[in-house]
Amino acid sequence: MNGFLTDTRIKELAAQHGTPLLVLDCNVLKRQVEQLRKALPGVDFFYAVKAFPHPDIINTMDQCGVGFDLASSGEIELVRQFYINPRNTIHTHPIKKNRDIRDSLRFGCTTFVVDNGEEMKKFYPYQNRVGLLLRVSFPNPDAIVDLSRKFGCSPDEAIELLEMAKQMGMHVKGLSFHVGSQSRNSNMHVTAIRRCREILNDYNRHAEIPMSMLDIGGGFPVNYCDTMPDIDTFCAPITEALRDLGEDLHIIAEPGRFLVAPAAISITAVTGKAARGGRNWYYLDDGVYGAYSGQIFDHARYPIRCLKAGPASPSVLAGPTCDSIDIISEEIQLPELEIGDLVIGEMMGAYTVSTATDFNSLSRCEIIVLNKPEAADKIPHIA
Ligand SMILES: Cc1ncc(COP(=O)(O)O)c(C=O)c1O
Repeated sequence: MNGFLTDTRIKELAAQHGTPLLVLDCNVLKRQVEQLRKALPGVDFFYAVKAFPHPDIINTMDQCGVGFDLASSGEIELVRQFYINPRNTIHTHPIKKNRDIRDSLRFGCTTFVVDNGEEMKKFYPYQNRVGLLLRVSFPNPDAIVDLSRKFGCSPDEAIELLEMAKQMGMHVKGLSFHVGSQSRNSNMHVTAIRRCREILNDYNRHAEIPMSMLDIGGGFPVNYCDTMPDIDTFCAPITEALRDLGEDLHIIAEPGRFLVAPAAISITAVTGKAARGGRNWYYLDDGVYGAYSGQIFDHARYPIRCLKAGPASPSVLAGPTCDSIDIISEEIQLPELEIGDLVIGEMMGAYTVSTATDFNSLSRCEIIVLNKPEAADKIPHIA
């Protein structure tokens, strides 16, 4: 057994539902929440819905007391359907259409991230109803996925923007940053916390309404094929740096990957095989236009295995579309596989099906959910 399913159970699920499948286990989500809570005591989490926007994940996170980081009207619609309390949500997209702002306010989410003056002006008509978080940029060479090129003001610009907000009568609740996703170490988190502390102290010294929140973003890593520090080791320096901020500041984070990546596996089947260039090529019924899209967009390399033993040789795993980019692995050691054999991708919960396409009009993988949360007795929240 590897991951959360035995090989026998994997075969049963494939026989019962067909392939391709993505199997999601909600108990693993709960375990991940607990682990991150233990590693970051005192930090409130807002699950980054974009990582895997699935109803059972929304309900599980809600039952665990986790809030939601929303970045589009579609994500708002999803959490609205499950009666999520809008007070437990924040809107984190730094660039919004006016329509996005209105949708968010109609839902009841009133905390918004901004990173420039033009964006701040969009909130002028709603100044009495919103609290802003100013996103500060901290480029991080140790993050696999860069999130600082497109968003965030420099720490030096922050003071100017805070001044501008004050002149406009806008309420800036605090600062936010995201040092990039799948970070190899927490050095940049620590640097960002220290720099934000200086900005908060400078501003709050003379502010009528002091800033009271720091959002430390995401970036908490998981192990794919590369080895990352375990979450306790990764978070210890962050916890230490947060200790210096004092107790009055509300610290929040927007984890995505760490909460959902280990909670799903992909089950695909070999649909064809060929010998090309001295290698066995195996054609699977899912690929980089589907659940393996994270290999393109998220720069991830998932641990892949088959359920067979035997002498291994260098092989190629290709997806089902007509495009040559649709290759999952050019260099993988596999025993001889036959049509119908199963190939398993582990750690496939984050940024996988959420970026899948319908290219070639191929159906997306079916999602099977294990240990679904009980349907909670929820009543709609009136904004
Ligand atoms: C604004 C924002 N918050 C949170 C996240 C989640 O980050 P991670 O999956 O690294 O935890 C992302 C990822 O793209 C993001 O853009």
